[in-house]
Amino acid sequence: MRAHSVLIASNRGPVAFTLADDGALNMRRGGGGLVSGLSEVARSTDVLWVCAALSDGDRGAVRLSPGGRLDEAGYDTGPVRMLDIPPAIFHRAYNAVANSTLWFVNHLLYNTPMTPQFDTRFRREWASYRDYNGAFALALAEEAAHGARVMVQDYHLTLTPAMLRVERPDLRIAHFSHTPWAPPEYFSLLPDDVAAEVLSGILGADHAGFLTARWAAAFMDCCEAFLGARVDRESRTVTYEDRTTRIGVHALGVNGEELLARAAEPDVESHMTALRALVGDRRLIVRIDRTELSKNIVRGLTAYREFLAGHPEWHGRVVHLAFAYPSRHDLPEYREYTAAVQRCAKEIEDEYATEDWDPLILNVHDDYPRSLAAYRLADVLLVNPIRDGMNLVAKEGPILSRRCALVLSREAGAAAELGADSLLVNPYDVSGTAIALHEALTMPEEERSERCARLRRAATALPPQRWFEDQLAALL
Ligand code: G6P
Repeated sequence: MRAHSVLIASNRGPVAFTLADDGALNMRRGGGGLVSGLSEVARSTDVLWVCAALSDGDRGAVRLSPGGRLDEAGYDTGPVRMLDIPPAIFHRAYNAVANSTLWFVNHLLYNTPMTPQFDTRFRREWASYRDYNGAFALALAEEAAHGARVMVQDYHLTLTPAMLRVERPDLRIAHFSHTPWAPPEYFSLLPDDVAAEVLSGILGADHAGFLTARWAAAFMDCCEAFLGARVDRESRTVTYEDRTTRIGVHALGVNGEELLARAAEPDVESHMTALRALVGDRRLIVRIDRTELSKNIVRGLTAYREFLAGHPEWHGRVVHLAFAYPSRHDLPEYREYTAAVQRCAKEIEDEYATEDWDPLILNVHDDYPRSLAAYRLADVLLVNPIRDGMNLVAKEGPILSRRCALVLSREAGAAAELGADSLLVNPYDVSGTAIALHEALTMPEEERSERCARLRRAATALPPQRWFEDQLAALL
């Protein structure tokens, strides 16, 4: 087996396969912020990427690939090993633990009078999460060269660093959290042993990375509270069971040149023409999200509604384009949330639409070039998550628009870098958000372009390549 000196591990890989009716496998690029950032890096370096098969199509491709190595089966992926984890284990690990538990804890999403409930069923799910993390640790242990650097990504894989260290103490291991981290008062919803296992799992790494100082601080607070670990906040280190893990803060930005080049392509231009024809010379408030509970789309729409109620002078002169793309529809909460978004949009339509004015255009179908076109046309970009690790929409918008005013949640990681030039809002404060939308629409032209230029500089300061190299260097 070939031994690699740099490896990435993440749940979602750089490619995904779909099974056509005639049994053929079609390959496309994988989705999501993490993947698009890392793909760019992995393409330009000789990195082995270990990921999970997410669908029947993926499993079909793994079966045709020697040892799960897609590249060795002739796929143009770069070195990728895809793991065919038994579907039942995968679903419990990915849906029940990663997306319904750890994601909910770190984004503060529970409706606590009813959820969570950690019962015997959860224990079975937790056992599957362990198995899934173990499968990654095993594959990484098999593929890594002596002393190799291994970059483990995200909340799906919190246990892998400690498991891998047991197998291969020679490796240098990093873990990176693309999510926020919960404060101890909320992290304590987890059963004590589970909380301790998650934290000590990550502390199996030499370097634990976060997107902002705030999430790093919350992680250190949790290590102190639940493990009794020794935390040095000055030097950002956590010492537990005689090992010290360095805590790193690595903000992630956007490769501005690449994004601008993509957004200048003809498919984006033709979407711009179509959107312009649709909205005429009206002002545009844009939002672009996965239909994700943490993105706070319903309160965003409600704020727009309150803005319309308070500002009749804007009726007929503004359109809200809300793109809310499907996500995690295996989870009932996400299906219900999508329905709530659609209901809220319909109410706004019913209340305000006239024969020649559509105040809101909600689109729930994923279309990347159309999103880029919307960014380019935006007068206002609304990004109001309840809580968000970073939020790259807030960074992409100002790069492409050049004159949009950014209404940004103070709970998004991006607020640490973009806060000074945004209109910051408390995501729960619907009236405050409505006021910010009005301020953003009426911001003088000179001010909006000056702010936008500064936002653009901040957004492009740490492109994915730099983000990745800094973390690799931190492992030397
Ligand atoms: C977040 C996570 C990523 C994940 C993405 C999409 O950004 O941090 O790890 O890839 O959401 O979620 P999905 O469940 O579709 O992979």
